Amino acid sequence: MALLTGRRMIVMGGSAGIGRGIADAWAGAGAEVVVCSRHRPAEAAHLTWERIDLTEPGDARARLAALAAGPVDAVCYSAVYYGDRRADFGDVREEEWRRQLDVNVTGLWLTLRAVLPSLREATPGLILGVSSEVAFNAGPGRSGYAATKAAAKALLDSIAQEEKGLHVVQVLPAGMVDTPGIRRRRPDGFDYSGYAQPSSFARVAVELAAMTGRERHGDSLVVDGDGGWRSVQDGLPASQSRVPV
Ligand SMILES: NC(=O)c1ccc[n+]([C@@H]2O[C@H](COP(=O)([O-])OP(=O)(O)OC[C@H]3O[C@@H](n4cnc5c(N)ncnc54)[C@H](OP(=O)(O)O)[C@@H]3O)[C@@H](O)[C@H]2O)c1
Repeated sequence: MALLTGRRMIVMGGSAGIGRGIADAWAGAGAEVVVCSRHRPAEAAHLTWERIDLTEPGDARARLAALAAGPVDAVCYSAVYYGDRRADFGDVREEEWRRQLDVNVTGLWLTLRAVLPSLREATPGLILGVSSEVAFNAGPGRSGYAATKAAAKALLDSIAQEEKGLHVVQVLPAGMVDTPGIRRRRPDGFDYSGYAQPSSFARVAVELAAMTGRERHGDSLVVDGDGGWRSVQDGLPASQSRVPV
């Protein structure tokens, strides 16, 4: 029997990028995986898709409630709105800031409110947040992204301290990852050879979902391109945006 057979997982933002890497890994390990996003994922016969747009909270709340009516063993939150481009604070539109709050923070809040009761019934339920180095380093030229990722980290850290039975872990890439969201912000012909692939999150996602103990509970794990990982307690992740002085 595969490691995660019989488990039901939800991946918010699982149609593409790192969330898709985690959804594929969980499904490959035998879990039933529901991915939520605005667009139907490509080549995804092994996944169930639920259309959710986190900028439409009323509809998102209803769809999440329906999903959470069934058993939920793990939820991964990978949905993100990066913003249109890197720009200093004074050049960012208020509309962009509000959308970052909607997708990067309020969407996480709505998701957790919906699934927590079901997760508490699992043994143990896992909340896997996809975090970023900007939550530790801040991000010049991407202040809204950095502020909302820091808020999401604090929300998950707080829940980790509240919840006695759940397993709450955050994962973040050591460097950049080649995803559709990142490609939208890079020029044509950009060289992605130094970027990791979303599949680098497969190993840690399956190991965390299969863990019965809570030894990684409350931790943030920095994931390398080769799938290896370490705790942030062993050293902060490198900034991808700070300009050396
Ligand atoms: N890639 C990197 O280098 C990197 C580095 C550090 C941290 N991270 C973190 O990794 C996570 C994933 O990033 P990524 O690069 O994989 O992102 P991505 O390629 O942009 O994928 C984002 C996912 O979120 C979904 N999504 C976006 N807006 C949504 C909305 N309004 N409602 C519902 N779903 C929505 C997208 O699907 P639809 O478009 O179909 O809705 C997609 O499935 C984020 O938390 C990010 O902060 C990434």
